[in-house]
Amino acid sequence: MPSHTDKLLDQIRKSIRDDSFVRLTLSKPKDPTGDLKKVLIKYVELKKGASLSVVFRYQRKDLTKNFLLEEGIDQIKSLLSETFLNANLLTTHQDWALEHLPNGKQKWISKAPSITQKPVRSHDKVKPQRVQDQGFLVELGVVSPAGQIQKDKGDKFKQINKFVEIIESLIPRSGLQERDSIQIHDMGAGKGYLTFALYDYLVNKLGQQVEAVGVEVRPDLVELCNSIARKLSFNGLSFEGGFISQYDIPSTDILIALHACDTATDDAIFKGIQAKASLIICSPCCHKQVRQCMLIPEKHKNLVGHGIMLERQAELLTDNMRALLMEAHGYKTKIFEFISSEHTGKNLMIVGERRKNPIDTQVKWDAYQAMKAEFGIERHYLEELLNQLS
Ligand SMILES: C[S@@+](CC[C@H](N)C(=O)[O-])C[C@H]1O[C@@H](n2cnc3c(N)ncnc32)[C@H](O)[C@@H]1O
Repeated sequence: MPSHTDKLLDQIRKSIRDDSFVRLTLSKPKDPTGDLKKVLIKYVELKKGASLSVVFRYQRKDLTKNFLLEEGIDQIKSLLSETFLNANLLTTHQDWALEHLPNGKQKWISKAPSITQKPVRSHDKVKPQRVQDQGFLVELGVVSPAGQIQKDKGDKFKQINKFVEIIESLIPRSGLQERDSIQIHDMGAGKGYLTFALYDYLVNKLGQQVEAVGVEVRPDLVELCNSIARKLSFNGLSFEGGFISQYDIPSTDILIALHACDTATDDAIFKGIQAKASLIICSPCCHKQVRQCMLIPEKHKNLVGHGIMLERQAELLTDNMRALLMEAHGYKTKIFEFISSEHTGKNLMIVGERRKNPIDTQVKWDAYQAMKAEFGIERHYLEELLNQLS
């Protein structure tokens, strides 16, 4: 009688033959103190032939190797006998799980498929290198079903990939990969491009369990995004209607707000700080609030003598002060250009990483107050929101 390991290997071969293979994950190391934590396997069609692309996830780095099919299956067999206790095979027809029990026996489980959309196989066609499951890009009209970027969607495509690249650099430092499940809130999610991209990256690339919510005031977009999430079996992703300021977030790990209008960005940052999010990532949109209440002192009149200069100065001050307020509330911040200004004017990004070891934040608070006084700024909306916390 074949062992459950043999059954698993057979199912892998079968799902590759009938093109239903989605992903295989090997987890639960026999030695929990070992450096190798997880292995994620995809099926890819390379010039050298049908292959398995294997990501070895170590404590602090990922190593990817491609194996021809049977070599790859040998690798899986030896990893299962020597290193890992659990295997999860996802196919578009069925999910399979193999578990090694403490009594030495094996358990074989089959479940309904969690993903029913076939992933892109060819490395050449994986245009959005950082996007794993192109299905959402097709549904959102960024990429054609044949994998080509749609006309006029080049900038959106670049933005999505750049966003995932930024996330990729932040996650390892955040410690979130160690969590059983990661909570995400996207405030002002719009058509969900970045919500889907972040979910796809964490679930399909990193193999994480994710609960993600996109909050959006437009009901038509909420309905559209929910229907796409259901269609793609992105089961941990949902969209809810409402205003950011009125949406309660008891806890979250990652809060994003990309191009939420004017003070909606402040509402989102406030919600992130209040929920003690590990990461707050925002790209501000229009800036009106600070500009409307700047009483520029005489010494700076020449600096902002032209309307456009006043506007730019107000933008710089608004975002600098946002970052200082985040610092004053225990975040390490960075402000940088998100994507080149050739693609969009709204290209600044503020990232806050919650400090694991708190520092004395008085100096940040003083810097904020000094900036406010220097430019005669009567009020900053984010400061007013944050006053509720003290
Ligand atoms: C410019 S779009 C950006 C969408 C998305 N974040 C992205 O980057 O692709 C801004 C979205 O935020 C929504 N929005 C603006 N203010 C909001 C608020 N106060 N509460 C909830 N949604 C808001 C708008 O309806 C719009 O869909």
